[in-house]
Amino acid sequence: MVVPGPAARTLVTGPRELVRRVGRARRVGTAFGRIYLGIKGHQLLDRHLRPTDMDLRWHRLHREHARILHRSALELRGLVLKGCQFLSARADVLPPEYVETLSKLQDRVPPTPADRAVGLVERELGRPLREVFAHFDRRPVASASLAQVHRAVLRDGREVAVKVQHPGIEALVRADLASLRLLFGTVERIEGSLALTPLLDEIAEAVPTELDFRAEARHAERLRALFAGRREVVIPEIVHELSTRRVLVLEFLEGIKITDLPGLEAAGVDPGRVAQLLAEVFAEQILRFGFFHADPHPGNLIVLPDGPRLGLLDFGLAKELPPHFREDLVAFVLSLLRGDSREMAAALVRLGFETRDGRPDSLDEVARLVLALAVRARDRAHLDPDLVEEARREIGEALRRNPVVRIPGHLVLVGRVMGLLSGVSRSLGSRVDLARTLLPYVAPAPPTR
Ligand SMILES: Nc1ncnc2c1ncn2[C@@H]1O[C@H](COP(=O)(O)OP(=O)(O)OP(=O)(O)O)[C@@H](O)[C@H]1O
Ligand SMILES: [Mg+2]
Repeated sequence: MVVPGPAARTLVTGPRELVRRVGRARRVGTAFGRIYLGIKGHQLLDRHLRPTDMDLRWHRLHREHARILHRSALELRGLVLKGCQFLSARADVLPPEYVETLSKLQDRVPPTPADRAVGLVERELGRPLREVFAHFDRRPVASASLAQVHRAVLRDGREVAVKVQHPGIEALVRADLASLRLLFGTVERIEGSLALTPLLDEIAEAVPTELDFRAEARHAERLRALFAGRREVVIPEIVHELSTRRVLVLEFLEGIKITDLPGLEAAGVDPGRVAQLLAEVFAEQILRFGFFHADPHPGNLIVLPDGPRLGLLDFGLAKELPPHFREDLVAFVLSLLRGDSREMAAALVRLGFETRDGRPDSLDEVARLVLALAVRARDRAHLDPDLVEEARREIGEALRRNPVVRIPGHLVLVGRVMGLLSGVSRSLGSRVDLARTLLPYVAPAPPTR
């Protein structure tokens, strides 16, 4: 069981903290309210205006909303920025205006000034910069939600990336977690039977770990060992003796951002091949290793043109599935591929789904709906807005009668990965045959003699 850390449980630590927290909540609420009202207003107009006029208005509205979100993310940082980063990767379900504007949050967040970043590196390493590095680029190559990355050369000539944590980010993220706990708790009380705590506990465990770069170093090493036999996957080597809680030094990877289609084309890389590789690499991590990189947004995925090979970056958010859970997930995918709704319902029960009436067979209907949707989604590596809408309507109706009251916490990060991958595949314009891709990772091993 996941036990939330003390900071996640503390709601407010002092009056100044309270003022800050209320201020953040108010700003999130204002942004959300403006977006909600904008959409409602346009839905009303939609009934009265010509479709061509409306098209233009919707585009304008999406652009404005994307700007509101982008501005709020930069002002508030913390989990708000992480949330907007997640949206930025969802080219499969969101209008392009959002993807375009918010994708800057993946690796182009305004950085911490160089002097402060350098000061932090020297303090963490306990030595002046020039004792450690032959060269250190004061201008970061990228900056994202928790850190920025400087290119540097070690005294022994190795080219490295120095990941420096943004000062103050830890307090911000912990405060956001406490606010989320308050929000989830309130929804749980209003909704009565809905159990959100397992989901929140999962987030409360993963997020603070992300702030400790020594944990990130361990995750990276573990995946590097697991992928050692697969040449098409590149995971940077960690320089342990120069890595601390807030500074991580690792091999520099030179490549092309996965969503940079012109860049891929110029390097002669087939985006379809990249999408296929991406799907395989994550199927292998989740279904075979039971340990996976849980944050594959485009800023964390890089393509090395020779091969092509896929570089994974940023291992802060990683997840280990309990062995029985991984097996039940495999059974679920197998039932999906076989079109077996009985087995799927059984797998859902074993995974820990629960409906309000508590009867295991009440998940049968959900399983049948999922299967019917899977047939329609076949040959698409990503969701699309129409399909998502259908799924929401159909599964939503079934659930209204007998809602799911418990979703297993272990699925939070699996779901996050699936959402992100669906978005990235869409950006790559790919058509991966998911059934064929998943089969090798779920097929029962042939009997050994
Ligand atoms: N080893 C590396 N080689 C080259 N570039 C790197 C490397 N590691 C990170 N980067 C660049 O720096 C950016 C930020 O690094 P990283 O993703 O680790 O930071 P983060 O703040 O944890 O990100 P996120 O917001 O995704 O949590 C990456 O998006 C990538 O562009
Ligand atoms: Mg990142």
